[in-house]
Amino acid sequence: MIALNVNGKNYNVDVDPATPLLWVLRDVLGLTGTKYGCGIEVCGACTVMIDGQREHSCVFDVSSATGKKVVTIEGLSVDRSHPAQQAWIKHQVPQCGYCQPGMIMACASAMQAGHYGKEILSEMNHICICGTYSRIKDAVGEL
Ligand code: FES
Ligand code: FES
Repeated sequence: MIALNVNGKNYNVDVDPATPLLWVLRDVLGLTGTKYGCGIEVCGACTVMIDGQREHSCVFDVSSATGKKVVTIEGLSVDRSHPAQQAWIKHQVPQCGYCQPGMIMACASAMQAGHYGKEILSEMNHICICGTYSRIKDAVGEL
């Protein structure tokens, strides 16, 4: 059994310790907001926060998350009130939406580190197949 703390809740999961955290979040815990894109740390769709740091859950062994606090898009706020979520809503950023949880989690992590605006943007090298980059720039620009 592997002990996890995700979005403030404690879990014990019976999985191979080398399982990527992404699949435990999605398939075991049912937290499907975190997405799979590339599986090789390129697209950013799988981004979550672990102890406040952005991590690619597609390559993060679940056993390495023990004793740490994992936050997914579902746990960022209970009512979409996080400033990043509010900026995304204001600027109607998503198109298909698939990449957006990872984008928002990366933004939130950068904000937690005390970064703002262009600083945040420079850290967000995620891929959006729909090309929402200009709206992301607008949303992040006011943070
Ligand atoms: S799915 Fe993890 S970075 Fe693309
Ligand atoms: S909104 Fe569709 S992939 Fe980014």
